[in-house]
Amino acid sequence: MIIIEVNEKRNNDPKIKGEGGKQMAICFRETAKEFHLYNEKISYILTVLENGQLGHLYFGKRLKDRESFAHMLNFRARPMSVCAFEHNLDFSMEHIKQEYPVYGAGDMRYPAIEVQQENGSRISEFIYQGHRIYKGKPELEGLPATYVEQDDEADTLELYLKDQLTGTEMILFYTIFVNVPAIARSAKIMQTGEEEIVLNRVMSVSVDFPDKEFEMIELTGAWSRERSVKIRKLEHGTQSVYSMRGCSSHHYNPFLALKRRETTEGNGEVYGFSLVYSGNFLAQADVDTYDTTRITMGIHPDTFSWTLKKGESFQTPEAVLVYSDQGLNGMSQAYHTLYRSRLAKGYWRDKERPILINNWEATYFDFDEEKIMSIVKTAKSLGVELFVLDDGWFGERNDDTRSLGDWYPNLEKLPDGITGIAKRVEAEGMKFGLWFEPEMVNKNSRLYREHPDWILGDKGRRLSHGRNQYVLDFSRDEVVDAIFGQMYKVLSEAPISYVKWDMNRSMSEVYSAGVGSGDQGKVLHRYILGVYRLYDMLTKAFPKILFESCASGGGRFDPGLLYYAPQCWTSDDTDAVERCKIQYGTSLVYPVSSMGSHVSAVPNHQLLRNTSLEMRANVAYFGTFGYELDPNRLTEEEKEEVKEQIGFMKKYRRLIQFGTFYRLVSPFEGNEMAWMVVSEDQRNAIVGYYRILQTVNGPYRKIRLQGLDPDKIYHVSRIEEDLYGDELLWYGLDVSDASSGENREEYNGRNGDYQSKLFLLSSIE
Ligand code: DGJ
Repeated sequence: MIIIEVNEKRNNDPKIKGEGGKQMAICFRETAKEFHLYNEKISYILTVLENGQLGHLYFGKRLKDRESFAHMLNFRARPMSVCAFEHNLDFSMEHIKQEYPVYGAGDMRYPAIEVQQENGSRISEFIYQGHRIYKGKPELEGLPATYVEQDDEADTLELYLKDQLTGTEMILFYTIFVNVPAIARSAKIMQTGEEEIVLNRVMSVSVDFPDKEFEMIELTGAWSRERSVKIRKLEHGTQSVYSMRGCSSHHYNPFLALKRRETTEGNGEVYGFSLVYSGNFLAQADVDTYDTTRITMGIHPDTFSWTLKKGESFQTPEAVLVYSDQGLNGMSQAYHTLYRSRLAKGYWRDKERPILINNWEATYFDFDEEKIMSIVKTAKSLGVELFVLDDGWFGERNDDTRSLGDWYPNLEKLPDGITGIAKRVEAEGMKFGLWFEPEMVNKNSRLYREHPDWILGDKGRRLSHGRNQYVLDFSRDEVVDAIFGQMYKVLSEAPISYVKWDMNRSMSEVYSAGVGSGDQGKVLHRYILGVYRLYDMLTKAFPKILFESCASGGGRFDPGLLYYAPQCWTSDDTDAVERCKIQYGTSLVYPVSSMGSHVSAVPNHQLLRNTSLEMRANVAYFGTFGYELDPNRLTEEEKEEVKEQIGFMKKYRRLIQFGTFYRLVSPFEGNEMAWMVVSEDQRNAIVGYYRILQTVNGPYRKIRLQGLDPDKIYHVSRIEEDLYGDELLWYGLDVSDASSGENREEYNGRNGDYQSKLFLLSSIE
């Protein structure tokens, strides 16, 4: 029996203030056996049920604390239900809102956990044993997770449960943050009993809502069109997003939200669920025919099973739940704050990001040192701060059929190796960055010839390739260690300031030669743990290197990798029009500082579309900013424009990357898009407005801004007017152009398709 350890007065005193005078607490009511987790904005309430399992009472807007919320269980007898106690027709797990439902104890919906036992049974019953409440937040071993810097930033509840028959124990973790309307949840399973058990399913979170009047938001797409915002009405049955590709994927992001029908960007209720994980996941809304909605999120059970022997344990990834009654922007800002400052970590976390130039679209594989140096010199003269050497610098890599796995320089292209070119770039006054794809190998490589059994795949079966490459078995420590060794050598010998970590295929035929038949269900999760371990070793060995993750663009843009790499290449698609959608969708969860965004050449290499240099930069500013082109091919006039763009970004990047970001007009709903950032003190803001196709003789367009101080007067650039914040908030900013009647001033080359405008707002004393 675990002892109940109630920590400090604070637990029973709702008036105790957290840091900065904010209210926060986790209250335990002994008599009601209820837990109330709350901060200034949210409440999360759960209870120990009569049968010892956990019931869910409430998650949403902050409620006043009280002795009991038992009325929220709201159950009564229903015909044809299975009931837990004889002579009691009221208590049915079929209908009770639950906290971490199990299979086989009366609940008929999708469980959070399913444990297979030696006798074949999958029934379990995890009974409350005790709990612990404490300040701060624990780390999750081997897994990325949100964290606190001071214990006063969050409170944590650990609930201890046990299945008596198998002796299996469970800890459910709940952390509530003082300054963010968010709760982090995870579960740990420990086999203390004698028998060997198999976890067929162990989700990070399950939450039951008492109604179904929601719309589900998901971020879907594919290569070059990642994270489109899709909204659908919840219906009876299951609706889900998932990945079974071995990575979080281009196709669905490990995120879903439930919003009320009337919720907009600026108003209304929304619940966000985000999984801090980079591998296969399932995020599901299950609506039963009594109109209750269950959200479950965690590692995808269909490609997972985990055997636990006596003494072994399993920790799930963390899920981060956000509630906002201030629309989708409120939800996104909570994620932005938490993920930017308490998920991302390290030297670069709070720093403005260097403006970079990447040679991929400038040269592809076709380069030598002189070509690179001419790009570097011109880029330097324009104000670029960091040069990134992309794919093609290693082994015999002249196309994508060879050399992945051989992380030593190609001396034909780079006679003095990486050290030589990095030093030359530094001598020009720029920083040097380098591309790797650590998890992959080509059959035509030294590594593969030496270790053909190091790839995922069942010998004797046909093996699929993706871009001519195979997946190294990162579930095996020796493989990860060997790649670390190669990367360490390159990174420690040369002055390297930045690493782009790419990953360019989905995983198929997943089988590891490194483990026995009973452990094959562990391979994909162990693979991701291997990725995290390599990131951990590299970021510890090179704490000042800025890591940018990438997976054929944004195929692994997830919170898991954000923990190690504070920025991610958002998409291979650099077309300004497409990027409006991609960055808009990405911003639902991820902060501006995490989005790699570059100006590329026209015609655009993905779509062949022509957009102006101005439009391309106006979109790319809302990210980490850089260039993906050969600057030597720019005209003198374009070079001057690029210089101005870089000057602009240097001046405003702190505001853009670390200010409060608001989406204003969705590109998924029409012909235009708008967003803005506001400084913390509300004195400065930048509004970006983008109009895709020109229309004729349309209405005048004004957009209501957000986040401004209604009492401040702002000078608005472009229109050069001084306007009160309240006018800009409630009347709006006039963004009309040549689409709105005869706007002759816009006719000088500025009309036509693909237009954009930035407005700078600065408050006047
Ligand atoms: C895919 C990435 O998304 C690109 O930016 C580039 O690095 C290529 N891989 C290189 O192979």
